[in-house]
Amino acid sequence: MNLLLSKENPRFYGRRKGRKLSKSAVLALKKGSKYIVEYENISKIFSHSKKNIIIEIGFGNGENLINSAKLNPENIYLGADPFLNTTAKCVQKILENNLTNIKIWPDDIRKILNCFPLESVSEVKLLFPDPWPKFKHKKRRLIQTDFINNIYEILKTKGKVTIGTDHKILKSWILEKFQESLKFEWQVKDSKDWQSRPKECFFTKYEQKSHKEKRKPSWFIFKKK
Ligand SMILES: C[S@@+](CC[C@H](N)C(=O)[O-])C[C@H]1O[C@@H](n2cnc3c(N)ncnc32)[C@H](O)[C@@H]1O
Repeated sequence: MNLLLSKENPRFYGRRKGRKLSKSAVLALKKGSKYIVEYENISKIFSHSKKNIIIEIGFGNGENLINSAKLNPENIYLGADPFLNTTAKCVQKILENNLTNIKIWPDDIRKILNCFPLESVSEVKLLFPDPWPKFKHKKRRLIQTDFINNIYEILKTKGKVTIGTDHKILKSWILEKFQESLKFEWQVKDSKDWQSRPKECFFTKYEQKSHKEKRKPSWFIFKKK
């Protein structure tokens, strides 16, 4: 057992490194270093912001993060993803689009949730989080009771959590965990609400994968009570 593991230093099970970074990716990380936030600066950056703060967890190739930031310059976005190749790609796109309203945390989101002031965040998005479908791996799923409680604390009243997933087991897991928490209200009137992507979310690589493999994504919006 690693005794150094703690709430702020949780065990991470996904991929952090993939293929060697290309020269252009290394250059993008260097040129775009100002977009990457340091742990020490997070509370400073987000404490006095009058803008809506949106956190996207696991931005992957960044399709949703980049398009959302482009379309809503009045908001400020924090994207988190520990996978270095995707961080480099996303920074490259931030530079290409001259975006000034995105910051990147290139690591596990759970390490910084306590850095945000209470009730400061407008929305948390998770598009196609890793499902960890095997029962013996259920503790590896990001959505857990503690995680929901932490998100609850930093969200503004009526702030929301938006989640997309195409995995049957994860769909039930998400509903079960949020309903158990009693702190959020599932925003649903009829089946159309969970069968179609919310208009503020963009098509991502994993949504494309789900269509290709004939799995239907579901979309959940939970509003803080
Ligand atoms: C299945 S991919 C989905 C990527 C993207 N959202 C999409 O829809 O194409 C899940 C992503 O979540 C990231 N991830 C997993 N655990 C995370 C964590 N604890 N904090 C931040 N990102 C995480 C992974 O590195 C990966 O890029």
